[in-house]
Amino acid sequence: MSGNTITLDGKTVEFAEGETLYDVARRHGDTVPTLCYDDRLEAFGACRLCVVEVEGSANPVASCTTTATPGMVVRTRTEALEKHRKTLMELVVSENPSGARIDPLRGMASQELAHLAVRYEADGSRFQGKQSGRSHTSDPNPMILRDYDHCISCYRCVRVCAEQEGDYAISVANRGFHTQITTEFGGFLEDSACTFCGQCVQTCPTGALGDKRSMQHQDTPGEVERTRSICPYCGVGCSVDILTKGETVVGVHPAMDGPANEGALCVKGQFGWDWVQHRDRLRTPLVRKDGKFVEATWDEALDRVAEGFAAVREKHGRHAIYAVASGRAPHESAYSVQKFIRAGFQTNQVDNCSRA
Ligand code: SF4
Ligand code: SF4
Ligand code: FES
Repeated sequence: MSGNTITLDGKTVEFAEGETLYDVARRHGDTVPTLCYDDRLEAFGACRLCVVEVEGSANPVASCTTTATPGMVVRTRTEALEKHRKTLMELVVSENPSGARIDPLRGMASQELAHLAVRYEADGSRFQGKQSGRSHTSDPNPMILRDYDHCISCYRCVRVCAEQEGDYAISVANRGFHTQITTEFGGFLEDSACTFCGQCVQTCPTGALGDKRSMQHQDTPGEVERTRSICPYCGVGCSVDILTKGETVVGVHPAMDGPANEGALCVKGQFGWDWVQHRDRLRTPLVRKDGKFVEATWDEALDRVAEGFAAVREKHGRHAIYAVASGRAPHESAYSVQKFIRAGFQTNQVDNCSRA
């Protein structure tokens, strides 16, 4: 055993250089509660829910911002700590007019507050009073609900926008009960630097930020199921969890463990999923007859395509034919396209729009 050890709830455990007490406790299966913490962000130390006792410290310390040092004696779940956390939770929940809410369609982390409220049997009745944050539910953008009445000022949205997206589209105005998450000059999101990546929605632990498109499916029958997949829009290969209710796609969450994206998505991957079941989506081939598109069978359509290719090759030669495969198509289809062009027409004129 190396010299880097601490005593954690009575057990001697090792830690790596730079690890926080929260990191060490989590690695050893301890469920220290957090609210302002997001693995991808610099620890902030705002909510104090992750407090632990360290022998020699007069007061509990925030484990997410305290680096482990050799010989520390740490306790994570004493009666006094749990009482302290319950009081903190009661204070936080008192900020939410309708209490903590469980709604998986608002965003990926949107149920964190609700689950902790259940764990600590916390309601806001002891601390009824002022609340911070005024909602901007009239913001006309079609993607992100800004329901700041439910904001607890954890600043995860502001930090993810700056640290992960590098966008700085949102910030914090004022302090105390006047705290307000805002854009520059307090305007609408679409007039700000926002790229609608949805990162803020997915990290918000209360559902104060919500995915408007997903939320339209609150009354769609069925339980929400998650299926791991890859975003089909470009060649990066971001991992996503597709949310469905029965046969209906009801949302997309970024995969935190996706090797290419580590929880990030762009606007298309995050919000551009409802075309899958759009009523205008083509479901049968169309061929042009007398200048108009009419529905056709696949055999009719493929015959027409073959005639067209043959005519071009006859008139202009094999190099007059080329193909650009769609970045939305799966790899197997992209492979088939290049095989079709190379083997079928003996030319290498083939590309893919997601090649970059
Ligand atoms: S959607 Fe992305 S860019 Fe826009 S405010 Fe949220 S994190 Fe920032
Ligand atoms: S909107 Fe959500 S993520 Fe942002 S500060 Fe409020 S509670 Fe935290
Ligand atoms: S999670 Fe450590 S202070 Fe909020």
